[in-house]
Amino acid sequence: MSTVELSGVSHAYGRTQALSDVSITVEPGEVVAVTGPSGCGKSTLLMLAAGVLRAQSGRITVAGTDLTGADDASRARLRRREVGLVLQFGQLVPDLSVRDNVALPLLLGGHRPADARAAADGWLERVGLDVEPDTLPADLSGGQAQLAAGARALVAGPRLLLADEPTASLDATSGRALLDLLVTTTVQAGGSVVLVSHDNAVAARADREIRLRRGTVAHQVALS
Ligand SMILES: Nc1ncnc2c1ncn2[C@@H]1O[C@H](COP(=O)(O)OP(=O)(O)O)[C@@H](O)[C@H]1O
Ligand SMILES: [Mg+2]
Repeated sequence: MSTVELSGVSHAYGRTQALSDVSITVEPGEVVAVTGPSGCGKSTLLMLAAGVLRAQSGRITVAGTDLTGADDASRARLRRREVGLVLQFGQLVPDLSVRDNVALPLLLGGHRPADARAAADGWLERVGLDVEPDTLPADLSGGQAQLAAGARALVAGPRLLLADEPTASLDATSGRALLDLLVTTTVQAGGSVVLVSHDNAVAARADREIRLRRGTVAHQVALS
């Protein structure tokens, strides 16, 4: 079973056609870099695979579940259980502490709060975020928020890790360390990684590059 499969997927924002008839398959254990110029549809592709956006046509399957006809609640459940998402600006919940932000996928999934928070503390340490766990997101730097988002993405052991400019707010060394952790943790557990980055060193971690151009797949190349 493929981790994620897009088949003939199109998506438009009003009159802007962001993706046109895109078909992509990512297998367990694979690391795929999505590249292409600004506006070519990279973020839209990731948001569709995450089940945040609903495809206007075509079919999307994640970990064997068809997202196309799924209602909001089941897409949210799938996202919580199977998908880790790291975005450029961290996108933490402003009213929750850093610890609870990281614990959130487990808290929502019905884990005992004490266990969820202990797991969160472990991941905060692994990503190297050295702040009081009670700190609110507003008191973090952009880089620290991105580390917290990385911890949150890994806490539930995602089968699909989606990262959109995951290291944009970090210096080169911290960015590379976070990326290593995201990729290694996910792949060792048999999951897949799809990442977007302008950093060539990030794309170099991938097994395959999918290059988009104006909302279509321009080419796919095996790397390594
Ligand atoms: N929320 C939105 N509303 C309107 N247009 C959007 C929105 N998000 C993206 N677009 C447009 O869709 C196209 C693809 O955008 P995006 O997926 O963000 O590309 P990339 O991540 O490669 O820069 C662009 O033309 C962009 O302007
Ligand atoms: Mg983008």
